[in-house]
Amino acid sequence: MLQIYKYILDICTTLCLFLIAPVLMAPTLANMCRPLKTLNDSLSHRRRYMKHNFPINYTIRVHHKEIFKLSNISKMRLNVEELDDLVLQRLWFQVNQGVLKKIIRVMPERHPSRPYTAELERRFRDAEGVFVESHPAEVFQQELPDTIQDIWDGLTEEPDRVPDSSWRFASPKSLLDNFCHTMFCLFSECFASTEAPQDYCDVSHWRKGRKKDLQPES
Ligand SMILES: *[C@@H]1O[C@H](CO)[C@@H](O)[C@H](O)[C@H]1NC(C)=O
Ligand SMILES: *[C@@H]1O[C@H](CO)[C@@H](O)[C@H](O)[C@H]1NC(C)=O
Ligand SMILES: *[C@@H]1O[C@H](CO)[C@@H](O)[C@H](O)[C@H]1NC(C)=O
Repeated sequence: MLQIYKYILDICTTLCLFLIAPVLMAPTLANMCRPLKTLNDSLSHRRRYMKHNFPINYTIRVHHKEIFKLSNISKMRLNVEELDDLVLQRLWFQVNQGVLKKIIRVMPERHPSRPYTAELERRFRDAEGVFVESHPAEVFQQELPDTIQDIWDGLTEEPDRVPDSSWRFASPKSLLDNFCHTMFCLFSECFASTEAPQDYCDVSHWRKGRKKDLQPES
């Protein structure tokens, strides 16, 4: 199977690969697409619920490792040897679980964004459930590369043992922007469009769309 796959890779141009990608996509990843698309539907309303319903310049305190952006992914891919995408996907779930928890924690029961955020978290949990079910359990016991293990340890540290220098302030909207952009990058097969191939891992992809997407930005 690997041989055949390699052979096809060799003879195909990018376009050809692009057209047959859905067929060759690992079934595990294919399972993920439906819950991730549902999650994307929620995330597309993030400006309304994560910016407009909060005071101007409102920020929450997060661990600096919870600021997980495209630039972090490209740095890790460059610096960590044999970094499997699966490891980055696991990290993505770990990071964003904490991010959602922290956002929910600052919202009173009757905050207008509360139902939205609760649903977002539910959809995130669904995607995580499918992710876990779609891989053999051993995958989740595999040792992580040291750099990634360090990040993991930082994320799961008891809050009162986290040194002051490790906290950062970030707006809920910016945290969900990271959440969304890194999702497109790490699960890009699920968001591929046949008309216009996109490199979601490329930081400039999001800069380009900024004016159009993010109006009225303050
Ligand atoms: C994400 O969801 C929004 C709203 O449903 C949609 O307009 C957008 O095309 C989706 N993004 C991708 C990459 O599928
Ligand atoms: C929000 O932050 C911007 C940039 O730091 C600053 O210029 C602006 O005055 C702040 N607005 C308020 C209401 O604090
Ligand atoms: C991402 O990079 C920023 C600084 O560039 C850093 O503070 C943060 O800890 C990194 N996030 C992760 C998950 O490594």
